[in-house]
Amino acid sequence: MDLIKLDGIRYEIGEETIIDGLSFGAGAEQFVSIIGPSGCGKSTLLRIIAGLIPPTAGRALFNGRRIDKPRKELSFVFQDFALLPWLTNRENVMLGLSSSGLDDEKKSDKAGAMLREFGLGGSEDEYPNALSGGMKQRVGLARALVLEPEVLLMDEPFSALDELTANAMRREVLETLRTRNMSVRLVIMVTHNVEEAVLMSDRVVVLSDKPTKLKEIKSIRIKQPRNRKGGEFGRAVDDIYAKLASKR
Ligand SMILES: Nc1ncnc2c1ncn2[C@@H]1O[C@H](COP(=O)(O)OP(=O)(O)OP(=O)(O)O)[C@@H](O)[C@H]1O
Ligand SMILES: [Mg+2]
Repeated sequence: MDLIKLDGIRYEIGEETIIDGLSFGAGAEQFVSIIGPSGCGKSTLLRIIAGLIPPTAGRALFNGRRIDKPRKELSFVFQDFALLPWLTNRENVMLGLSSSGLDDEKKSDKAGAMLREFGLGGSEDEYPNALSGGMKQRVGLARALVLEPEVLLMDEPFSALDELTANAMRREVLETLRTRNMSVRLVIMVTHNVEEAVLMSDRVVVLSDKPTKLKEIKSIRIKQPRNRKGGEFGRAVDDIYAKLASKR
């Protein structure tokens, strides 16, 4: 069964239709990217999946159950990191445990362990503003993963980083998800970067311009870790660009 299923999702703001009926499913052990033109409603769609906003019509399902509020099995990574500057890195990660019922000492231990997992040992009790962008997003990832979610939702998680840092982070995230016995069974990532989608994903969901519909779902079957110089990689990238540019 699909872990996440979207069934006829519509989203309207006043008279304007943003998302015009979108359905697709995503199962476990997948990395799915959602790509589409600027303003087509990608962030809106991810927020609907996260249970942060309700669709105007249609349903988002997790394990067959309607998602009508945020749930601990689904966690979110934000483009702008969304760290609280007056809290330490450890305290920011502890926010990810607020619904855990653990006492503060256990939360603190778990948060510290997760920060060390992301190479931030020694910075636990510093503040986010002392960190580089890549380090800030590591804190964002640690906060999203500390409650051991099944589904990781990421909204352009690397787009605020310079390209060198972003590239290192993409590989690190794939490597961490693959090798570290993580709870995550499905990743859904919004991106506007075609190369990033092909580098990371098993499937790429291509959306149209507003009012947004599904254009195509493309499977990428290249073995990981992927090499951008490979011919198959280039063909997948070209295909997606062509699909984005096409009328339908
Ligand atoms: N509060 C709002 N009031 C009016 N329009 C809004 C509001 N929030 C979003 N929109 C519109 O909804 C559409 C979808 O926005 P959304 O942020 O989901 O798009 P996106 O695909 O994530 O864009 P981007 O590529 O810029 O991140 C946009 O066209 C935007 O203009
Ligand atoms: Mg967006």
